[in-house]
Amino acid sequence: MSDTPNPVGDIVLVVDFGAQYAQLIARRIRELNVYSEIVPHRITAAEIAERRPAAIILSGGPKSVHVEGAPTLDRAIYDLGIPILGICYGAQLIAQQLDGEVGRGMRGEYGRARLRITDPATQLLADLAIEQDVWMSHFDAVVRAPDGFIATASTPDAPVAAMENAERLIWGVQFHPEVVHTASGMQILRRFVNDLAGCRPTWTMASIIDDQVEAVRTKVGADRVICGLSGGVDSAVAAALVHRAIGPQLTCVYVDTGLMRKGESDQVVETFRRNMGIELIHVDAGSRFFERLEGITDPELKRKAIGELFVRIFEENTGGLTDATFLVQGTLYPDVIESGGSDGTAAVIKSHHNVGGLPDDMTLQLIEPLRSLFKDEVRKLGSELGLPDEIVWRQPFPGPGLGVRIIGEVTPANVAILQEADAIVREEIGLAGLEREIWQAFAVLADIRSVGVMGDERTYAHPIIIRAVTSDDAMTADWARLPYDLLERMASRIINEVSGVNRVAYDITSKPPGTIEWE
Ligand code: XMP
Repeated sequence: MSDTPNPVGDIVLVVDFGAQYAQLIARRIRELNVYSEIVPHRITAAEIAERRPAAIILSGGPKSVHVEGAPTLDRAIYDLGIPILGICYGAQLIAQQLDGEVGRGMRGEYGRARLRITDPATQLLADLAIEQDVWMSHFDAVVRAPDGFIATASTPDAPVAAMENAERLIWGVQFHPEVVHTASGMQILRRFVNDLAGCRPTWTMASIIDDQVEAVRTKVGADRVICGLSGGVDSAVAAALVHRAIGPQLTCVYVDTGLMRKGESDQVVETFRRNMGIELIHVDAGSRFFERLEGITDPELKRKAIGELFVRIFEENTGGLTDATFLVQGTLYPDVIESGGSDGTAAVIKSHHNVGGLPDDMTLQLIEPLRSLFKDEVRKLGSELGLPDEIVWRQPFPGPGLGVRIIGEVTPANVAILQEADAIVREEIGLAGLEREIWQAFAVLADIRSVGVMGDERTYAHPIIIRAVTSDDAMTADWARLPYDLLERMASRIINEVSGVNRVAYDITSKPPGTIEWE
C-alpha cells in the first residue's frame, strides 16, 4: 500500500447489502464532509486494501443472514485493521461471521424503539443519554456478541442493540443511525467517522470544485468541448463546472424543442450566455418539432419522434464544431450505481430515454464531472458556482418536455394552453412556500373536451389535471396533500386566466400504481 493521500481526502467505503440503505448512509457521511462511496458486498479484502479507505460501513439489507444465498463479506476484511461499523444487517453479519449469535424466528422490531445503554464503557455511544429513541427495521437480531466484543445497549426486543470490540476496531448497531427518526443518529455516525476512525472533514464543495477543475483541465488540454444543455439542473451544473475549468474552450448547445415550460428557454439563454459568459448555440427548433409531431397521439411514438429529431438537430448544430473532442454529460452517482456500478444489488433499470443524451454514433469522449455526486450535492455545487435558484432548484422535467404532458396531439395551441396552466401551478406552489417539499408539481392537458358554463354561455373546452407529488427518488411517490384553498386558487386562476380550459381536476394517484408523469 502506498502512503500517497487520496485526492478526495479520507474515504469511507459503504458495503452494499441491498435495498436503498447504502445510498442514504453514503449521503450522511458526505454531510460530515468526508467522501464516501458504495461498493458491492462481493468486494475482496485485497480490493478494499487497494482503495485505502479510512473506514468501512456495512449497510443494512433486506435478507436474513440465515437464508441460503444471503450476502456475506470476505472475512479477511475484518483483519485489515480498518475501523468497521456494521448497521442492522451489517451488525448481524459481524456477529455471525465472528462466531456470535443471531437469533432466528424472533418477533422483529419495526419503527421507533427505546434504546438503553447498558455498558458505560461504550466508545461509540459515549456522550449520549442513557435512554433514547432509535429507528429499528429488522426481523432477526444479534442475541450474543462474538468473543472479545462487549454488548453496549439493548432495546426490549433486541438484547444486543449495539456491540463493540475496541481492540479490533469493530462496532455494530442493530438500529439505523442514518435515518432522521434516530435523533442521535448523526452524532453516532460522526463519532465513528471523525473520532473513532479519525477521518478529517476536508471534502467540501470548494474542494470538489478544485479537484474537478484540475481533472477536467488535465483531461482536455487545449481541445474543444461540447455540452448539450437540457435546461435541467445536472447539465447546467456540469456546464458551469467545466466552464470554470476551461472557459472559452467550451461551447454549449441548447436545442429549444418548443416543448419547454413557460419562460424556460429565455432563462437558459440569460443565465448561460449573458450572466456566465458561456458560448451558447441556441437552436430554436419548435416549428420542426411541431411539424414532426403532427397527428401523433401514441405516447411511445411521440417520445420516439421527439428523441430522434432532438439527436438529429443536435448533430446538425455540432457538426460544424469539427475540432471538438469531448462531450460533457451530467451523469450522477445514482445513475452509476443503478447501471451496475455497484454490483446491481440495488439495480434499477432506467427506462427513460433522456433526449438530452448522447447520440449513439458520436465519436466524442465523455466528461462526466458529476459522476460521484448525489442530486442534493449537485444542487449545492450549482449554487457555489453561482447558478441562480431557479435553475438549481428546478424540478425534474422529462426530456421530451411538455410533449409527454399532453394526452393526445401535441400542437402549438395545446402547448400554449399547457404552458400557461403549468406556470400558474408552479407560481402558486412557490407563493405557498411549498417548492422544496414537493418533488414535482405541474399541469397536464387532456386533449378531450367537456361541457361547462361560464357566465350565460355554455363552454366546450379542455380539462387541466394538476399533478403534485412528494417523493425521494421518483421510484415511488405519493400525491401531495395540498391545502384545499391552494387547490382552489390554482383551479380558479387556471379557468379565469387560460382560455380553452373549463375544468380542473386533481390527481390523487400514488406511484405505484400510477406514474408521476401522464402521457
Ligand atoms: P414517471 O412518470 O415514470 O417518472 O413516474 C419518474 C421521473 O422521471 C421523470 N421523467 C423523465 N426524465 N427523461 C427524463 O430525463 C424522460 O423522458 C422522463 N420521463 C419521466 C419524471 O419527471 C419523474 O421525475
